[in-house]
Amino acid sequence: MSYNNILSEVSHGINTITINRPNKLNALNKATIKELHTAFNDAENDADVKVIIVTGSGEKAFVAGADISEFSDFSVNEGKKLAAKGQKILFDYIENLSKPVIAAINGFALGGGLELAMACHFRIASDNAKMGLPEVSLGLIPGYGGTQRLPNLVGKGRAMEMILTAGMIDANQALTFGLVNYVTTLESLMPLCEKLADKILRNSSVAMKAAIKAVNANDVDGVNGFEVEIDEFGKCFGTKDFVEGTTAFLQKRKADFPGE
Ligand code: COA
Repeated sequence: MSYNNILSEVSHGINTITINRPNKLNALNKATIKELHTAFNDAENDADVKVIIVTGSGEKAFVAGADISEFSDFSVNEGKKLAAKGQKILFDYIENLSKPVIAAINGFALGGGLELAMACHFRIASDNAKMGLPEVSLGLIPGYGGTQRLPNLVGKGRAMEMILTAGMIDANQALTFGLVNYVTTLESLMPLCEKLADKILRNSSVAMKAAIKAVNANDVDGVNGFEVEIDEFGKCFGTKDFVEGTTAFLQKRKADFPGE
């Protein structure tokens, strides 16, 4: 599949998806969001892909937000549609993907860029990264899940401060807030993400899919996450991966999971 706004490369189980509009600081226009959906959908359906890393091209930005030039003349209805569609085809889609997704934040992650990183399962930042939700400075609010995911990740008070000041925090502040798991140099960012991805590759893909579903159930209104966990835990006992994982442990060898 060839793309105009992103790059997607699969190598030994890792699918690296790079947003590739460096001249626009990788801002998310409609076409890029569509291509990202296709790339994540392909990753979901490609048996060779076990883990996904998403990053931005260049040394300055992960993603500097939704493309402001595309919505500056929108009406109320168009605004609603923009948020609803984006949330459905990209942000919620990534969060609920059955395969682990790591955000490699290599620079500015603002607005939709931070929302994209927050939709990923966890985040690593380079030390030049700057994060924020500056929408209120444009007369907007975050529309791609930022008002929901940021408080979940950093707590309500910190989220309110970030959203209401429209300010940016640096990578170390993001680490203190628990918004990112590690901070490293720009050169070491992809190697660190790949090292973590390699660790993930050793595990049962069926069990990881169940784990993602159970953890995500924590945030869903009207869903009892403990019940989802019990259900998913039970289902694991019916999988070939469970048989292989426990047998390998008892035989003191490395598991070779069939992924079924
Ligand atoms: N949408 C559209 N274009 C964007 C963009 C966005 N969110 N962010 C950056 N760009 C474009 C700029 O318009 C500029 O394009 P041009 O060279 O054709 O004029 C190019 O990317 C480089 O950006 P520039 O502003 O010149 O870089 P900078 O280093 O001076 O500033 C930022 C970097 C990130 C501080 C600044 O680009 C910025 O504030 N961007 C918008 C962030 C934002 O509000 N995001 C939330 C959107 S809802």
